[in-house]
Amino acid sequence: MAATAGRCGATEEVLAYRRIGAYHSLTFVAPDMAERARPGQFVSLGVAGGGTLLRRPFSIYAVSRHGPWAGTIEIVFDVVGPGTRWLSGLVKHDVVDIVGPLGRLFPMPQQQVGCLLVGGGYGAAPLLYLAQRLQQANLRVDIVLGAATQDRLFNAIEAKRLSASAVFTTEDGSYGTHGRVTDVIERMFKDGGIGVVYACGPMPMLAAVSRVAQRHRIAVQVAVEEAMACGVGVCMTCVVPYRRDGDVANVRACVEGPVLNGRKVVWDEIGRQPVGDVATGDTATAANPALRP
Ligand SMILES: Cc1cc2nc3c(=O)[nH]c(=O)nc-3n(C[C@H](O)[C@H](O)[C@H](O)COP(=O)(O)OP(=O)(O)OC[C@H]3O[C@@H](n4cnc5c(N)ncnc54)[C@H](O)[C@@H]3O)c2cc1C
Ligand code: FES
Repeated sequence: MAATAGRCGATEEVLAYRRIGAYHSLTFVAPDMAERARPGQFVSLGVAGGGTLLRRPFSIYAVSRHGPWAGTIEIVFDVVGPGTRWLSGLVKHDVVDIVGPLGRLFPMPQQQVGCLLVGGGYGAAPLLYLAQRLQQANLRVDIVLGAATQDRLFNAIEAKRLSASAVFTTEDGSYGTHGRVTDVIERMFKDGGIGVVYACGPMPMLAAVSRVAQRHRIAVQVAVEEAMACGVGVCMTCVVPYRRDGDVANVRACVEGPVLNGRKVVWDEIGRQPVGDVATGDTATAANPALRP
């Protein structure tokens, strides 16, 4: 499903700002976006107040379609530069220009399979949104979250609440298993019962998770975070090399992604010179017939 057809752009009001561990969260009153949003999609925020004209993309973390505010969406972010610094200074009733929901969603399994959700840092946010949907569909959800340190693990309590089992890894050993997510998922794959992996986090983590899943012949859907300029398929900033029909083509992470079939992304080529033409179409479910968007 190409969500760009149903996207909207509007000036939305901040309902709440809060800290979640090392991260920041903003909730916006955005009834139209809340109505359309699905896990895996993102919104593009104007951050001109931060002195930069290019919009900044953020995954949708939570959506409320009902309640006193009629519809809200929430994003979680790390402060890394001028745009996110400006966002972290917003308060209730401030307004932000938002376009969304954008991009392709995580496809849902068509059969009763076990789902493993693997998140790195704030990459856990869209996965926790997905976990709710999977649980509503009566699918088993197991979660593995990793981060460099304990305070950068995103919302471990919610991960436990939304899963049959939740495992945490930190690179400094300050919480959970000492190491990386790939250190624990290999064992979980061997134990069996997992039919599909959903992952979001830094690109090296997505590459590693995809390789392990490929080795075990398990379907893997990744939400990539390729740098974006326009966010709507025009500028080609966000292309990702992708295997299709025996060839490698570029797909635009903002339109054909951000959710892609991790077994088809050519991870070693990411960040190098773009290859060939741009491919369009259904990338997430290609070669994964067990999944539907
Ligand atoms: C589809 C998508 C979803 C995203 N979801 C989230 C989210 O939920 N929470 C969140 O905190 N961030 C998310 N990001 C990354 C976020 O968009 C960037 O951190 C943000 O644009 C940085 O803006 P800035 O002006 O603060 O910093 P900039 O000055 O633009 O960048 C500061 C530093 O961050 C790096 N950076 C910029 N963009 C990215 C990127 N896309 N991926 C990795 N590093 C980047 C730059 O290389 C630079 O080193 C997402 C990106 C994409 C493409
Ligand atoms: S960000 Fe412009 S084409 Fe994807």
